[in-house]
Amino acid sequence: MKLPRQFFQPLAIGAPAPMRDLPVRLERMIHFVPPHMEKMRAKVPEIAKQVDVVLGNLEDAIPVEAKEAARAGFIEMGKSTDFGQTGLWTRINALNSPWALDDVTAIVGAIGDKLDVIMLPKVDGPWDIHYLDQLLAQLEARHNVKKPILIHAILETAQGVNNVEAIATASPRMHGMSLGPADLAASRAMKTTRVGGGHPEYKVLEDAKGDAPRAAYQQDLWHYTTAKMVDACAAAGIKPFYGPFGDFSDAAACEVQFRNSFLLGCVGAWTLHPSQIAIAKKVYAPDPAEVAFAKKIVESMPDGAGAVMIDGKMQDDATWKQAKVLLDLARLVAAKDPEMSARYGL
Ligand code: GLV
Ligand code: MG
Repeated sequence: MKLPRQFFQPLAIGAPAPMRDLPVRLERMIHFVPPHMEKMRAKVPEIAKQVDVVLGNLEDAIPVEAKEAARAGFIEMGKSTDFGQTGLWTRINALNSPWALDDVTAIVGAIGDKLDVIMLPKVDGPWDIHYLDQLLAQLEARHNVKKPILIHAILETAQGVNNVEAIATASPRMHGMSLGPADLAASRAMKTTRVGGGHPEYKVLEDAKGDAPRAAYQQDLWHYTTAKMVDACAAAGIKPFYGPFGDFSDAAACEVQFRNSFLLGCVGAWTLHPSQIAIAKKVYAPDPAEVAFAKKIVESMPDGAGAVMIDGKMQDDATWKQAKVLLDLARLVAAKDPEMSARYGL
């Protein structure tokens, strides 16, 4: 085991020191762009103003014959766009693919100083993170990159779920994790062809009462994994995200899937279609009525201790902390979004 004092040492001479804390950033949506398509690249400067993170996707959904064009397109888009406060990420190809090594070396060499996060798919265990961690340190040193590039793992294999805690704590480069319901369903042999969301056959049936029709309630296929991921991330001080929702025609189901993850502790989700951006903005910001109540709690317990009653509800040190979670997030949203700032009164 690596000793604690070595954990924050740079892994290559000349590489920047790893961050002790993650940058405080609003990351309600990670917006996926296919960078091999010139038409899509042309929209990036406008999209970057509307989203928290722009991600150039090099992995699944990019045709094999377009892998190199996607990599070159991402570099071009990184060079030519001013992303301002918006994060610039890429999803590289899996480490066992023929493209991963060139993805990392070419991108860090060309735009290492602009790139915030590398999303790594199909992470099975901490060994995958250690490999990329070392490679990034070598490349940062070679190209004189000043700010460490962070790693975001996709949780999308059964083995990865088994090792989720070790993945979360594998390196100070870990930014967070996203649940990948499509690959994970395949890896586990779940019987669904959907990308996220529920399944009409995954349900509980009301008890029988004679011959009366029995109500059936659909259950959440992703509850267990999301909760497991949130615990691993929160314990490690990194950020959990819900991943993709594939049915672009069902905005209501997308909203519910996103909201379940938000309520359980996730900070954002992927947006694969422009229509999902507004959904993520709505979901991954606390409700103004909840924020108003949270403000009341914090104001009535200035030192965060003791017990008070508000509107018939007991408040104490623990509810003060719950209120602070909502208020801290509301402040972050308000700082970026004047409309939400007015609705929160912050
Ligand atoms: C995402 O990559 C997924 O497999 O769901
Ligand atoms: Mg996947």
